[in-house]
Amino acid sequence: MNYPVWNVSFLGSGLVVAIIAIIHVLISHIAVGGGIFIAVAEWWAGRQADGERVRAFLHGFVKYFLIYTTVFGAMTGVGIWFAIGLANPEGTSLLIHQFVFAWATEWVTFIGELTVLYLYFYGWEVNSRRMQLLLAVLYAVIAWLSLFVINGILSFMLTPGGWTPENRDIAAGFFNPTFLPSLLGRTLAMLVLGGLFAMLLAARVEDGLKERIVALAARFVLPAAVAMPALAVWYWFALPEAAQTMWLDGATGVAGGRLEAVTRYSLLAVITGALIVIGTLTFAARPRAVTRAAALAMLVIAQLGVLGGEFFREMARKPYVIHGTLYSNGLWQAESKSPATLDAPYFEAARWEPPGIAPGSPAHGEWIYRLQCASCHTLDGYRALDTRTRVWTPAFGERFLRDLAQQGVMPPFHGDAADRAALAAWLISRHGTPVTAAEVDAAAPAEVKR
Ligand code: HEC
Repeated sequence: MNYPVWNVSFLGSGLVVAIIAIIHVLISHIAVGGGIFIAVAEWWAGRQADGERVRAFLHGFVKYFLIYTTVFGAMTGVGIWFAIGLANPEGTSLLIHQFVFAWATEWVTFIGELTVLYLYFYGWEVNSRRMQLLLAVLYAVIAWLSLFVINGILSFMLTPGGWTPENRDIAAGFFNPTFLPSLLGRTLAMLVLGGLFAMLLAARVEDGLKERIVALAARFVLPAAVAMPALAVWYWFALPEAAQTMWLDGATGVAGGRLEAVTRYSLLAVITGALIVIGTLTFAARPRAVTRAAALAMLVIAQLGVLGGEFFREMARKPYVIHGTLYSNGLWQAESKSPATLDAPYFEAARWEPPGIAPGSPAHGEWIYRLQCASCHTLDGYRALDTRTRVWTPAFGERFLRDLAQQGVMPPFHGDAADRAALAAWLISRHGTPVTAAEVDAAAPAEVKR
């Protein structure tokens, strides 16, 4: 990392980003799926004898929407920007420079989305029914377009496709190999969430109308949930080979009791998907079973499925923030291919150097940790290094750092033997028995010493 770091103890900066982002994802997916539901239900209301009752239901629906999307959606959206800018300045800068027009478009769609939503909600009494239907459809289309834009950028991070640092063609990066399966898969997830959200609100409705709304909502949820596996398979085949291998390693380890996180998350998505199908079939068959608690439980299950999918995507990208280009800790892949750069003293290459560091001192080790490891590991919380280095000896630690990239989930170590020794000594010393960098250095085989 070439910048001063944001050190978040226990959680780690990455997990902070993940927590804000997952809330944002849940809200935004409901916002789009629910928007499509409102548009369809507006049209449907026009064909019902008690259309005004349906519309009253929709009015209540939209009130929730206004609160969720404007307050929490906007807050977490801006929160993501703050968090990623601090957690990964290099990656954030790349995304901004590369997709400046896409971001601008995204913000325009967001403003459009909110404007139309307000016009729809507050135009309730004054607008013609045709106008309301038009606004509802417009909202659904604009909201979906905001997905279209952000999906190009998100999927780019995992599969940059024809984009390379030398060929910075925005279209090549945007319309990348996972763009389409991801766009369609997310659209299905949105229909599921929108339908389940409608069921949750329908749980309060009485005499006859509830049954019909539940039946309508089930038609959103069921086909989408059933079609999801096909898209998941399509998505899987578009993934980078390393991610597929990681997943397969986890899957084949199931029987042996070993299960990589990436595989666990995809399993979570599969199980929740099956539960959604079973639950929705039950709801459709017995609409009276749709109590608020039952509908809420289903919505929570669906949210867990989305969470599984998002974490899967994030894990599949390891150790990169932009696959094949930029590692999560700010090291460029191209730089890591040149031994002259990779093995040079670390602080010489860094654009920003912490002041007053004595070579081989504990501070030297700690700063190497902060700049190279802290983007993925905390010391004693999330993915803690204290537990992961408990059995380290000087010789083992030195060797581990030299071979860091061979684990497949971590970038190569950036720095020379002195940097490795300082880091290993600092990490080992945290367990209570002080070890000096010189001792680690002495334990290294002769050919890797300076
Ligand atoms: C791109 C993210 C990333 C970076 C950067 C990173 N690691 Fe890791 N590290 C992982 C992941 C993922 C694992 C495997 C899962 C786990 O152990 O939680 C891991 C595992 C480990 C383990 C346990 C290995 C085992 O088999 O028991 C150690 C020790 C470790 N890392 C040390 C480091 C050190 C030291 C640095 C900094 C020089 C570092 N890591 C940088 C992601 C990273």
